Amino acid sequence: MKDILERLEDRRAEARLGGGAKRIAAQHARGKLTARERIDLLLDNGSFEEFDMFVQHRCDDFGMEKSKIPGDGVVTGWGTVNGRTVFVFAKDFTVFGGSLSETHANKINKIQDMALKMRAPIIGLFDAGGARIQEGVAALGGYGEVFKRNVMASGVIPQISVILGPCAGGDVYSPAMTDFIFMVRDRSYMFVTGPDVVKTVTNETVTAEELGGAKIHTAKSSVADGAFADDVEALLQVRRLIDFLPACNTSGVPVWPSFDTPERVELSLDTLVPDNPNKPYDVKELIGKIVDEGDFFEIQESFAKNIVTGFARMEGKSVGIVANQPMVLAGVLDSDASRKAARFVRFCDAFEIPIVTLVDVPGFLPGTAQEYGGLIKHGAKLMFAYSEATVPLVTVIVRKAFGGAYDVMASKHIGADVNYAWPTAQVAVMGAKGAVEIIFRADMNDPEKIAARTKEYEQRFLSPFVAAERGYIDEVIMPHATRRRVARALAMLATKKAERPWRKHDNIPL
Ligand code: HXC
Repeated sequence: MKDILERLEDRRAEARLGGGAKRIAAQHARGKLTARERIDLLLDNGSFEEFDMFVQHRCDDFGMEKSKIPGDGVVTGWGTVNGRTVFVFAKDFTVFGGSLSETHANKINKIQDMALKMRAPIIGLFDAGGARIQEGVAALGGYGEVFKRNVMASGVIPQISVILGPCAGGDVYSPAMTDFIFMVRDRSYMFVTGPDVVKTVTNETVTAEELGGAKIHTAKSSVADGAFADDVEALLQVRRLIDFLPACNTSGVPVWPSFDTPERVELSLDTLVPDNPNKPYDVKELIGKIVDEGDFFEIQESFAKNIVTGFARMEGKSVGIVANQPMVLAGVLDSDASRKAARFVRFCDAFEIPIVTLVDVPGFLPGTAQEYGGLIKHGAKLMFAYSEATVPLVTVIVRKAFGGAYDVMASKHIGADVNYAWPTAQVAVMGAKGAVEIIFRADMNDPEKIAARTKEYEQRFLSPFVAAERGYIDEVIMPHATRRRVARALAMLATKKAERPWRKHDNIPL
């Protein structure tokens, strides 16, 4: 009996070594952790239950029958994050570069199926070279099975991908179908084809970092939602994100103890908005001052900085925050900002996370670059996302809400439930200068008349009261009371039920 037990321990020890001590040392030398070390950091201490540790590939081509490694390049199982169940798979770069074989795919599929059945989040840790080349179509078929399950689970359970090394092919396409992608700076890359193939096909010489580093994907392509300094920080931040997310689309948001009273008054907010309407202020200061303990998890921090999106809590419950950022491009809505916010709003709506929208927007960005880039369609995405949302929507107009952007940013007209405005709000078709230049063009040569017209326009329209007179704004609130008002609105809206007519699915302008 003792013999059998020892043999099990030996087999386990062999499997835990993956591609062997030399390859583990190489992994460490590159500043990367192994698959198992990563899982240990991600999950609560001792909570990991591994599946399929002894699975091996079945490939006989190219001498593969001589190199079979237990586990076959991916570590899979489940565990907990702050006590809540999550499913996890971690690619093992030390085994055939983490590449995906038929059996490796079966292991991931098993975890995907269990996560969906158990209605718990799934987290993929990627460090892998795509389809295992020696297996040909068997590997491609395996990826198809992974992709299909990504799509089936979309909007049902949160799916998170963490890119921790060079990733190509299927190891970027599967993440692309999940809800969030995080990367590690200077040592994780995502590309459909690597620099060598690029050189062959297009004759471009490009480094892995230039082609698909964290900087490119968080600031330029917007493929990734955040980047961190190393494996440890990335995995700890994923734990933090999990704490904000519901287990599934019907579980409701998690409720954590909050030490921050909803009645907290923030007198400094009364002077946040400068007297000069063209002067910026940092909307992140406003977010920090109204949410529980100032705790804000930003999504896509480095992309389209003119809009801020992320998760926070009110009275211990998760909310999504969408806020125009006057510090960048005056908070204007352009194609990138619209796309970024639309995706975030849809995530929140799919997972029943209420949305708080903070508005200070001078309109849509004019110009050929924007129009040629499809601003009409991208702007429509945000309009569409808010209009189809059935989660509680609370809006606070802080300063400008001009033109179409007023409608888009969770206005009453497209379905927001509670719409507040600060006394500093200006709700109008456009700012005073632009408006007067158009409607009083005949007076343009008379500066006195123009000054009088501008004043008249400012007094009539650049306030929250015209909108409030019509009931488009439910109440004009004191800035210092924003936390209390928003918290009370969210509490009242907790029982919201909104129905939509039956349809197979909508046709959002993709
Ligand atoms: C089999 C692979 C492999 C693969 C890497 N390895 N990728 N084995 N199939 N796809 C092996 C290498 O042979 C090597 O083995 C070890 O993993 C480490 O790889 P290196 O190249 O030494 O590492 P590095 O220099 O860091 O480069 C990593 C890499 C590169 C950028 C990922 O290996 C690479 O470009 N791999 C191929 C990527 C690719 O084209 N994949 C197919 C995509 S198609 P040894 O024994 O020497 O240590 C696809 C289809 C899905 O995925 C469908 C999408 C829609």
